[in-house]
Amino acid sequence: MIYEGKAITVKLIDDGIAVLTFDLQGESVNKFNRLTIEELGEAAAKLGSANDVKGLIVTSAKDVFIVGADITEFKDLFKGSEEELVANNLKANSVFSAIEDLPFPTLTVINGIALGGGFEMCLATDYRIMSTKAKVGLPEVKLGIFPGFGGTVRLSRVIGADNAIEWICAGGEKRPEQALKDKAVDAVVAPEALMEAAKTTMKRLIDGSLDYKKRREEKTGKLKLNAMESMMTFETAKGFVAAQAGRNYPAPVEAIKVMQKHAGMNRDKAIEVEAKGFAKMAKTPVAAALVGLFLNDQELKKKAKAYDKQALPVKRAAVLGAGIMGGGVAFQSALKGTPIVMKDIAQAGLDLGLKEAKGLLTKRVSRGKMTAEQMADVLNKINPALGYGDFKSVDLVVEAVVENPKVKDAVLREVEDVVREDTILTSNTSTISITRLAQNLKRPENFCGMHFFNPVHMMPLVEVIRGEKTSEQAIATTVAYAKAMGKNPIVVNDCPGFLVNRILFPYFGGFNLLVRDGADYKQCDKVMERFGWPMGPAYLLDVVGMDTAKHAGDVMAEGFPDRMQYSEKTAVELMFENDRLGQKNDKGFYKYSLDKKGKKQKAVDEKVEQMLGDVVQKKGEFTDEEIIERMMVPLCIETVRCLEDGIVETAAEADMGLVYGIGFPPFRGGALFYIDTIGVEEFCRIADKYKSLGKLYHPTDGLREMAKSGKKFYG
Ligand SMILES: NC(=O)c1ccc[n+]([C@@H]2O[C@H](COP(=O)([O-])OP(=O)(O)OC[C@H]3O[C@@H](n4cnc5c(N)ncnc54)[C@H](O)[C@@H]3O)[C@@H](O)[C@H]2O)c1
Repeated sequence: MIYEGKAITVKLIDDGIAVLTFDLQGESVNKFNRLTIEELGEAAAKLGSANDVKGLIVTSAKDVFIVGADITEFKDLFKGSEEELVANNLKANSVFSAIEDLPFPTLTVINGIALGGGFEMCLATDYRIMSTKAKVGLPEVKLGIFPGFGGTVRLSRVIGADNAIEWICAGGEKRPEQALKDKAVDAVVAPEALMEAAKTTMKRLIDGSLDYKKRREEKTGKLKLNAMESMMTFETAKGFVAAQAGRNYPAPVEAIKVMQKHAGMNRDKAIEVEAKGFAKMAKTPVAAALVGLFLNDQELKKKAKAYDKQALPVKRAAVLGAGIMGGGVAFQSALKGTPIVMKDIAQAGLDLGLKEAKGLLTKRVSRGKMTAEQMADVLNKINPALGYGDFKSVDLVVEAVVENPKVKDAVLREVEDVVREDTILTSNTSTISITRLAQNLKRPENFCGMHFFNPVHMMPLVEVIRGEKTSEQAIATTVAYAKAMGKNPIVVNDCPGFLVNRILFPYFGGFNLLVRDGADYKQCDKVMERFGWPMGPAYLLDVVGMDTAKHAGDVMAEGFPDRMQYSEKTAVELMFENDRLGQKNDKGFYKYSLDKKGKKQKAVDEKVEQMLGDVVQKKGEFTDEEIIERMMVPLCIETVRCLEDGIVETAAEADMGLVYGIGFPPFRGGALFYIDTIGVEEFCRIADKYKSLGKLYHPTDGLREMAKSGKKFYG
């Protein structure tokens, strides 16, 4: 034994080969936390002075190699000054460089996932042999940063600047074939043959038939590009990557700048450049927000997992209604492996649902993401039905018929009579109270909401709604089924609009009031899109449909009359009255026509301006900042109310609901994170400017308390 720690051991095996094994005690995966880096430094020192070692193989004793840095440590780490961050990176880098500089050949066996710091570890050794089951990559940009353990330096020198830019700026996970093609690894081998292959290669490295020194020189020297090539590569990439990443995500372009800057330097100088760039990115609010989201997501997963024990198995599901939503649910369930009965009252409905599923699958096949056989297999898992034939075998039902309380009530009672006593019933209603829908059921404890978002296959969120009588087992089973469908479930309590729509409608309220006061809806869209929303409010309303928005708006007004009922006609109501339903009938705030690819394109419709005259009360001009404030304040305050009312349990869940459910700009971290970023006191001051607009703009007492005591949503 050369070294024995809590995360790393180094043993000498035969023929002078040492094996360094990552195996972080008490954890299911390996990650680069402080301890692991410290131990790696100690192990490197021991190896450096061991005179009986001729070569080193690095590997892991877990299923993964190393999943990456320990992101839970980022929050505290990033609080430090830029200088502290640089110093910290340089210290960690000295460990990786010590491994790289060992006086004998080194090789990593990538037995499983090696991402971020995990893959940077692999890059520090001379050779890399990858399992057919592993994945590698540098996904740091997803957290608003870029690789900081020498990744930008080593990868650009190992696979060339062009490839490294793609790997680092897109942040994707690479399969073995791709990694081999790009020469990021030297061989790909079946899991069971990995160690043998590593030993054989190591022997050749030791006996000199493979030249490790030449490789090492390449990796630690300057990038092999002349001035002209360098200019072409980096300048072209900057433009392209900037357009891809968008103005709100600076890290990918910064990564290119850093690689360009250190291209002409040797390793140690280059690493200093990387460390400075890394620290600059780590201090951006974008990194804080994205790291926050990552940690929130972990919390969500933990909460969902806690339900596992109580969940009943869902081996077979059913969906009632084969419309937009029902068809989507059937497709997603089948795609992820749970067979599903799709029932409708009309053959036409079933045909439409199946056509939709076939369309989505055909696209996958044509993109090479699926074989024709797999497609047939998925389709076989969807069982179209006009009757309740085999509902006794169904474990969970999703009701997705028309949004009408009477119809839903009848359908739910009907299905309750044909399923087993332990079958869980759920409704995909967007507006009707779950407690109310449970009223006429015999087993209300087996019933809850399962609210998907449109389009089902794209939207990651499912709200699982707890009615007054819902049992924890019903919740647990629904959470488990949502997870099995590849979705992120969030459990919320029942109220009009549940979590996401309850928060979205005050935002639409802010929009209606802006139009009333003379704001240009096109400006509102532009400003909010620049703020980071996937689409502006008018465009979003066109996509949602004015009938749906009007109907849901009425429900919200009834539920929260003090702030969601408007004394005068709103822009949405006006559109609805004029049969401008949005994309459904190709006219809403904008008009729509199909482009050459068959995609809907929006255009300004002159008629709308004139029509809006009916609801516009004055001539108004608004700065971009005013528009942002008047749109965001109601949304943020309603999120605070949902938390205070216990609709959602934690700030993390509230924020993730908004990011996953309505595309809240991720780099702003969610509504509550956004309030924290502005500062609670400052947020209240902004809200007070708009006091006269009504209660939508009035901070709660709780929020004012927080402002006074200096408390934050994320402590
Ligand atoms: N469309 C959305 O964006 C969206 C988003 C979230 C939730 N929802 C909710 O999902 C539900 C369905 O909405 P949709 O947009 O898919 O509607 P849709 O009109 O596209 O589909 C409804 C389907 O239900 C069928 N149906 C009617 N009565 C039935 C019965 N008794 N048994 C079986 N099938 C019956 C109809 O034939 C139709 O195919 C609604 O509650 C809606 O509020 C919709």
